[in-house]
Amino acid sequence: MSTPSPFRPDLYAGQVALVTGGGSGIGFGVSALLSSLGATVVIASRNAARLEDAAARLRAAGGDVHPVTLDVRDPEAVKGGVESVAATHGRIDLLVNNAAGNFYVPSETMSANAWRSVLEIDLFGTFYCTQAVFPVMQRQGGGNVVNISMTLHYRGWPMMAHATAAKAGIDALTRTLAVEWAPHGIRVNAIAPGPIPTEGVRKAFTPPSGSGAADVFAVERAMGDYAKQTIPLGRWGTPEDVANAVAFLASSGASWVTGAILVVDGGEWLWKPQMPGGAPAR
Ligand code: HXC
Ligand code: NAP
Repeated sequence: MSTPSPFRPDLYAGQVALVTGGGSGIGFGVSALLSSLGATVVIASRNAARLEDAAARLRAAGGDVHPVTLDVRDPEAVKGGVESVAATHGRIDLLVNNAAGNFYVPSETMSANAWRSVLEIDLFGTFYCTQAVFPVMQRQGGGNVVNISMTLHYRGWPMMAHATAAKAGIDALTRTLAVEWAPHGIRVNAIAPGPIPTEGVRKAFTPPSGSGAADVFAVERAMGDYAKQTIPLGRWGTPEDVANAVAFLASSGASWVTGAILVVDGGEWLWKPQMPGGAPAR
């Protein structure tokens, strides 16, 4: 962690967390924080080598971290993976649905398979994982689910129709399951991060050649102070910003919070160019 954690070092001692996409970017940051707070963390995604490498790095930092290879699009693989985690570690206290795959594509030329791929990873995968942990959490008397959403569907984001539709669905799932599973002691919340320049998002936001769209990170490089102009809090986000929100939402400090979608974006989605004569530009 780049800054000292504001959380008690044993906050998650004795708890087991399952983080999808925990081998890279935001998921890695979430896994690093949870393991530093005492959780046993299982990181799950498709790329076994990347998972092994990430788990080794987190173990070298003192964490109890284990890789599980699975594709969240495959409900049987998800069920098997979750059962093996529960059998090995005895429980699952926290599921972080972080795995996603997106890319810029004009809606008019998006193939049916491209649409299906993103919906299946982001929305279906979130549902499959959440459904698979239900019996484990029900048996142990409760648990937490934290879904990683986004803010781009609040207004609209050209060439991301698949991802914005999927994340809007994740927001709906968050609210519905929060109500449906509250009697089982299962809280379901979400975090909507703003722009965090991970390698994954750099790849996703590289527009197809010839589309004429701006690459936001090229714009950032060109303008230097792009973040200062478009993010009220004046900087890009970091995986640690999201990790801290996960650690709060899944803690007893949030025991009366369910169905919440916490925006962690430095105020980015609220910002618009100001009227002439209005508030000074940042
Ligand atoms: C158009 C594309 C495409 C592209 C893939 N497809 N990339 N279409 N433009 N750039 C199409 C393919 O042609 C194919 O359709 C279909 O999508 C499936 O592609 P595959 O490569 O077979 O799929 P798969 O191997 O499963 O890869 C999944 C993926 C990939 C989503 C396509 O990009 C991925 O795994 N990404 C993971 C990393 C990632 O995206 N991270 C970003 C998270 S950041 P056809 O019809 O040809 O068969 C994020 C942004 C948040 O979420 C917002 C920030 C503010
Ligand atoms: P990332 O590093 O590319 O993370 C995506 C992760 O998902 C990878 O670890 C990948 O691992 C995993 N994954 C993809 N497809 C999968 C599948 N079918 N099954 C299992 N795992 C799969 O990108 P990131 O920026 O950290 O994004 C993490 C989350 O934050 C995503 O939900 C994203 O939508 C959200 N988000 C990001 C931003 C941002 O600006 N970065 C903003 C808003 C929201 P494998 O390749 O090993 O499968």
